[in-house]
Amino acid sequence: MTYTSSTVRVPDVAAVPRHIAIIMDGNGRWATQRRLPRVAGHTRGVDAVRATVEACARRGVEYLTLFAFSSENWRRPNDEVSFLMRLFVTALEREIGKLHANGIRLRVVGDLTMFDTRIQDLIRRAETKTARNTRLTLTIAANYGGRWDIMQATRALVEQSVAAGRPVEVTEEAFAEHLAMAYAPEPDLFIRTGGEQRISNFLLWQLAYTEFYFTDTFWPDFDADALGHAIESYTERERRFGRTSAQLEPQSQNVDSLPC
Ligand code: IPE
Ligand code: IPE
Ligand code: MG
Repeated sequence: MTYTSSTVRVPDVAAVPRHIAIIMDGNGRWATQRRLPRVAGHTRGVDAVRATVEACARRGVEYLTLFAFSSENWRRPNDEVSFLMRLFVTALEREIGKLHANGIRLRVVGDLTMFDTRIQDLIRRAETKTARNTRLTLTIAANYGGRWDIMQATRALVEQSVAAGRPVEVTEEAFAEHLAMAYAPEPDLFIRTGGEQRISNFLLWQLAYTEFYFTDTFWPDFDADALGHAIESYTERERRFGRTSAQLEPQSQNVDSLPC
C-alpha cells in the first residue's frame, strides 16, 4: 500500500510525527574524543539505536527509519567496513527476538545484492518473522543511497513499459510506488546527529517537505531525551506545503478542503 504524498496533505504537527528518519552520525568522533578506536563508537551506537527504537514505540511513532550504511560508506577503510558488517549481523541476531516480542516490524532497504548471502538470508528471515507486526515499522537503510533509489524506481518503470509494449504513464504516484520505502508515508521529521547539516544521499525524493532537525549530539549520546527535544522542535513548526499561514487557520483545518 502506498500513501498520499505529504506534500499534498497537511499533517497535524501537534500530534507525534508518524514517520521519523534519522542520519545516525558522529560515532567516529564520539570515540576519538575518548581516545578510543572509531569502531568503539559504532558499538556504542547500537545502544542508541535500541534506546531510540524503544522511545519511538512508546511515543506512538509509526515509522522509524535509520541510515546505517550509505552507498558511499564502502569508501571507508576495509577494516571499518568489515566491522560494521559484523556489527550489523550480531545486532540483528541479538535483537530480532526482542523487536518481534515488542510488535516491531523490521524492513531493510538498500542495494542488498552487495552484501554476502549470509547477511541477505538473515535480513530476509528477520523481515518475514516480523512482517505482521503493527506497532512500529523500523526500517534500516543499508547500502542505501537516495540516487540509487530513484534510479531503481526509474528502471522499474522502464521495465514495465517494455513488458507492456508501450510507455506506462509516468506520474509522481506511479514513480513513488517503485521506491524502496513505498510502504511508508514520507518522513515528517528528519534528524541528523553529529553536527553536519547535509543529506548525504539519504531519502532524496521522500524528504521533499520533511521538517529538518540538526543536533551536535554525537549518535552514541542520543537517547529518549534527545529524541524528545527533536519532537518538541517539530511540534513548534508550521507545515505549509506552499500555502500561506492564513490558509492553515482553524476554520480551514479540514485538510480535504485545502487547495492542493
Ligand atoms: C556514523 O558515524 C556511522 C556510519 C556512517 C556508519 P560516523 O562513522 O560517520 O562518525 P563520524 O562522522 O566519523 O564522527
Ligand atoms: C551518513 O554519514 C551515512 C550514515 C549515517 C550511514 P556519513 O558520516 O558517511 O556522511 P558524510 O559522508 O560525512 O556526509
Ligand atoms: Mg560521519
